[in-house]
Amino acid sequence: MKLFNVYPLFDITPLSAKDVYVYDDQGIKYLDLYGGHAVISIGHSHPTYVKKLREQVSKLGFYSNSIQNPLQEVLAQKLGALSACEEYELFLCNSGAEANENALKLASFYTGKKKVLAFNNSFHGRTSSAVAVTDNPKIVAPLNAQHQVDFVALGDLLSVEEILKKEQTCAVIVECIQGVGGLDESSTQFYQGLAKLCKQYSALFIADEVQSGYGRTGDFFAFQKHQIRPDIISVAKGMGNGFPIGGILIGPGIEASYGLLGTTFGGNHLACAAALSVLEVLEEEQLMKNVSEVSAYFMEKAAQLASVKNIKGRGLMLGLEFDFPVAALRKKLIDTQHIFTGSSNNPKLLRILPPLTIKKEHIDHFFQALIKELDS
Ligand SMILES: Cc1ncc(COP(=O)(O)O)c(C=O)c1O
Repeated sequence: MKLFNVYPLFDITPLSAKDVYVYDDQGIKYLDLYGGHAVISIGHSHPTYVKKLREQVSKLGFYSNSIQNPLQEVLAQKLGALSACEEYELFLCNSGAEANENALKLASFYTGKKKVLAFNNSFHGRTSSAVAVTDNPKIVAPLNAQHQVDFVALGDLLSVEEILKKEQTCAVIVECIQGVGGLDESSTQFYQGLAKLCKQYSALFIADEVQSGYGRTGDFFAFQKHQIRPDIISVAKGMGNGFPIGGILIGPGIEASYGLLGTTFGGNHLACAAALSVLEVLEEEQLMKNVSEVSAYFMEKAAQLASVKNIKGRGLMLGLEFDFPVAALRKKLIDTQHIFTGSSNNPKLLRILPPLTIKKEHIDHFFQALIKELDS
């Protein structure tokens, strides 16, 4: 059997990885400033992570959600404490799309309404309603297009109100910093205004923190900069440092009932062990502090480069915007300098999404390599 060929692949075969480095089958060492698309939070093969997963799988890797699983309780408690979201309740699933799918479904159950409001250039995943609220017609099949979604420009509160006042919208879903879209972010005034309008017109505010959550911006969640409390927060990527796990944090007042949501694999023992080790390392190694320090250093260095037209993002969810498409530069960084970086919907943006353990010396290495490639 052949693979269904949906991924354009770089010709690299990684065999192992440690912290911020990935090693391929030719013995080449790559600096990972991409983190497997913002997934690697505590560094590749972190000893705590490896130990906890090993221990857990040798005892019990999986059992279904029909029995007691105290690891889920511990995870909910620790996540609540570390993210300062103690008043929320946790539902566990397996990916970012699934987290958003459940968030949207819950909003519809809760409000009894059908429509969703999303933003231009958004990305929320590829399952049915998650892809329908994603602003990319190329990945929306006719089946998905049956969902009733309005799109408005990020920052346009007037259009938001025009739509919400019709009282047909169950949820507004937003990435407080757009990931795949290219790191656009609106003002605190906008996000606070959005939260207010959601309350006023009984729509739930869903913050998609799948990419921006888990310390990537220097805060646990990107929305926290704007002092808002979303009704539902979706998480995935950094949560399991590569082990597939996602979840939604559900705000007070949204009541659970048996069977309302469910999954076979979500929140299994092994996934919980991965997620618990991520929280332990984030806290013990003070990685959010590291994110802020290394981010400031990166910004300082980037500001010295005349060819960089714009520095976007915050924390370690960063982008360098040039006045030319960066695809060739990205390839040269991989082939010649052995550095992974990321792309986005904006062809001129080079994205930087490293493990949160990265140090200033790695940033120095990156800028030396970047200058070499820009000069050549
Ligand atoms: C903001 C955001 N939401 C949702 C998703 C979908 O996550 P997954 O690929 O785990 O389904 C992504 C993936 O890139 C994302 O960046």
